[in-house]
Amino acid sequence: MKKNILVTGASSGFGLLIATKLQQSGYNVIGTSRNPEKMQAAVPFKMIALNLDSEQSINSLSERIFNEIGRLDILINNAGFLVTGIAEEIPIELGRQQFETNFWGTIKVTNAILPHFRKQKFGKIITVGSITGLVAFPNTSYYAASKHALEGYYKALRYELSEFNIRVAMIEPGSFKTNIMDNSSTTLHRIEDYNALRNKSEKYADFIVEQGEDPAMVAAKVLKVVETDRPKFRNLVGKGLSVLITLQHFANGTLEKTILKQLNKA
Ligand SMILES: NC(=O)c1ccc[n+]([C@@H]2O[C@H](COP(=O)([O-])OP(=O)(O)OC[C@H]3O[C@@H](n4cnc5c(N)ncnc54)[C@H](OP(=O)(O)O)[C@@H]3O)[C@@H](O)[C@H]2O)c1
Repeated sequence: MKKNILVTGASSGFGLLIATKLQQSGYNVIGTSRNPEKMQAAVPFKMIALNLDSEQSINSLSERIFNEIGRLDILINNAGFLVTGIAEEIPIELGRQQFETNFWGTIKVTNAILPHFRKQKFGKIITVGSITGLVAFPNTSYYAASKHALEGYYKALRYELSEFNIRVAMIEPGSFKTNIMDNSSTTLHRIEDYNALRNKSEKYADFIVEQGEDPAMVAAKVLKVVETDRPKFRNLVGKGLSVLITLQHFANGTLEKTILKQLNKA
């Protein structure tokens, strides 16, 4: 029997590649978008509506999954967006929005699916976090905070769910060429003291996007995690990231120091 997999945010970037790769690898994929009708004709999997900012949308998603499709084997929490800007300049409302979508939206989808996973006594939850869920850089405070929060939450959940045969894993990509910058939000509020840092950070972000790796790597890693019975919790994706994160851990802040050096040269 084909496994059913739900991929949130399957209209663009990682989600589109993940959903397509899984469908082509023999899984039955259901992808989500806030505007599913826009993409349906262009993708090889079924698209349904999901807005992470709406509880009603999340509830009707889970009703549709279990009434129409009947069973779900794997949930892939991928949808999310990026808020950029100097922390002090970002209005709390925008910071809250970052958490509403990236953290609370993801948790609410997980909670809507979990009773079914517990009842069937199996399931897998794979969440796309970020390298910024493990380290943090200037100009991405709320994004980093939302991704750190996801890391902590799912780390705890992994232990709570192990007795139900439900596996929990994170995917932590570095920097990849998707539409994330085009879909990001920022603030026009400016505090002069930060001008130099803001300029350097924005220049560095352009450089990072330019150097971004091929997002197909992330889809390949997700397929591996899908096909592994007991996947590792942490799954970094990106050139040299595992070494840098290990160094970061043992040599206090190596990765952050490297990035800050590059940023100051920008
Ligand atoms: N690109 C990178 O370098 C990078 C690195 C680390 C982690 N990530 C993470 O990877 C995930 C995917 O990002 P991406 O780079 O592929 O960006 P993307 O190309 O902008 O795709 C974002 C996806 O998320 C969906 N989405 C955004 N806000 C949503 C909301 N409020 N409700 C429901 N769906 C929403 C979008 O769907 P619709 O607009 O169709 O609704 C879209 O399919 C995100 O969680 C991001 O934080 C990206």
